[in-house]
Amino acid sequence: MPSLPSVPGTDPTKCVLDSFRIAIAQKLSNALPLTLEQAFSGVDYGKKGEDFTVALPRFRIPGKLEETAAKVIDSFQSDEWVEAVVLDKSFLHFRVNTKSMIREVLNQIDSLTRSSPTGEATYGTNDSGKGKKVIIEYSSPNIAKSFHVGHLRSTIIGAFLANLYKACGWEVISMNYLGDWGTQFGLIATGFEKYGSQAELEKDAIKHLFDIYVAINKDAESDPSVKAAAAQWFKRMEDGDEDALKNWRVWREMSVKKYEKEYERLNVKFDVYTGESKVGKESMDAALEKLETMGLISDSDGAKLVELEKWKLGKAVVRKKDGTSIYLTRDIGGAIERYEKYKFDKMIYVVSSQQDLHLAQFFKVLELMGFPWAKDLVHINYGLVQGMSTRKGTVVFLDQIIKEAGNVMHEQMMKNEEKYKAVEDPEETALEIGITGVKIQDMAAKRIGNYTFNWDRMKSFEGDTGPYLQYAHVRLASIARKNPTLTPLPPSSEIQTELLAQYAHARDIAFLLGTYPDVVKVAMKTQEPSGVVTFAFRLAHAISSAWDSVIVKGEEDLEKARAKLYLYECAREVLGAAMRLLSLRPLERM
Ligand code: ARG
Repeated sequence: MPSLPSVPGTDPTKCVLDSFRIAIAQKLSNALPLTLEQAFSGVDYGKKGEDFTVALPRFRIPGKLEETAAKVIDSFQSDEWVEAVVLDKSFLHFRVNTKSMIREVLNQIDSLTRSSPTGEATYGTNDSGKGKKVIIEYSSPNIAKSFHVGHLRSTIIGAFLANLYKACGWEVISMNYLGDWGTQFGLIATGFEKYGSQAELEKDAIKHLFDIYVAINKDAESDPSVKAAAAQWFKRMEDGDEDALKNWRVWREMSVKKYEKEYERLNVKFDVYTGESKVGKESMDAALEKLETMGLISDSDGAKLVELEKWKLGKAVVRKKDGTSIYLTRDIGGAIERYEKYKFDKMIYVVSSQQDLHLAQFFKVLELMGFPWAKDLVHINYGLVQGMSTRKGTVVFLDQIIKEAGNVMHEQMMKNEEKYKAVEDPEETALEIGITGVKIQDMAAKRIGNYTFNWDRMKSFEGDTGPYLQYAHVRLASIARKNPTLTPLPPSSEIQTELLAQYAHARDIAFLLGTYPDVVKVAMKTQEPSGVVTFAFRLAHAISSAWDSVIVKGEEDLEKARAKLYLYECAREVLGAAMRLLSLRPLERM
């Protein structure tokens, strides 16, 4: 291939389409008064089957647009990088050389996945975050309160972000900040004396504590002495009274154990389980003292607050009248402790947009306190999920959601008796596909919007659903199994990828595969999974359109059959990578 100059911010060793883009930029800058970098910044992916498109007006070149275009077109010479250029209104569409593109893309995928010298699959990754550390705090349910779908959304989006940052070279610390502190634990402790049962607790701690919480809450409504007892109890907890803390410790540990199992089911893992209870009294006191000396605190009826009206953030109460801490104070102290411990370059909080004000308040307080790292705190918010109740009623617990996803999917699969019988472990498979369905429906929706969950859509194998994606992956994985005489494939240098150039569908697939590293980069910019979901569906569609024309079984020409299998194997790698990025477990069989 003709050699190319380098352009800052590109890395052809990780994204070979960069080379093709540079080749186009080079032609532009040779024909027009543009530097290579200026030209490069104008080369975008095309729409509707065009490879790359340049919107000429953006360069603001003096003179008529037709003349500018003519300069590019007249001097154009096709080569191994670029095949053709056409003018379409004010756009120039460039078509890359089909044979080179297919070969370069597939070989790059192969060398960074199946034939990777380290055994690690790195296609799609980049080094943009090298040397940097990020804490991603997500899920963060409240012990003894319900795990609502908002927590599920935080879990799904947070797990995606953790994978994404890793793919971009960051060191990632996944953190779960449990709601394991606050007056409600005084209430539960009071309730436990009345309603608690060791056996129930051992059976399902999360559920039992929740039941107690509901029951004692009811009592408290009609009997003020219950509330008073609860407040007293919590005060003792805050003061570190070991007797008051004993039960709470056990509850917390049991709840974490149960959550850990459920997270494992969801393919989600935390490096650190912390919680509101772990925020040290000393760091909160020190923070309040600092706020006090800086003159930022005002007194209101015994409570202490920080005036944030100037920023339209209201008044932030940081300490209650009785001296006990609150949610906001714990977040302030918690952030300070985390910085001291981890020296992060960035800290992300994945929390529902219902808490926009809370997050903005404590970010602002930290900024006012003069912490330079306050600017590195990021709130990734998301909208509400509506309609996620099981057939038995409203969902309260994570394990109910997981179970329902498995059941719904299992029933769906049983409708096709023949296929069902062929599945090795149908319950397990149904569960995995069901979870995929839930996650995909969540991540396909734009993060910030509200969306309505739909079990019927989630379980369908048709349309842009989780089951459809798993099915696409399974089908790809089955090709090698069904054509054992072709495997193992010879090394990439011996595969005649040029034989694929005659198939338009093969070209489409290869080009799409080539865009994956950019899909990852764009996701990093938008901090959201929906673009990756869209990519996975586009790829799955491109593959399913190819089945009839790019056939492997029945192909008599051995070299052609090999080249096609190679294409599908590369497609499987990339679809699998995109699915794993979305925290899914791609299935091999179903
Ligand atoms: N446990 C909280 C809730 O369920 C969410 C915690 C969000 N994180 C934070 N640092 N405030 O509402």
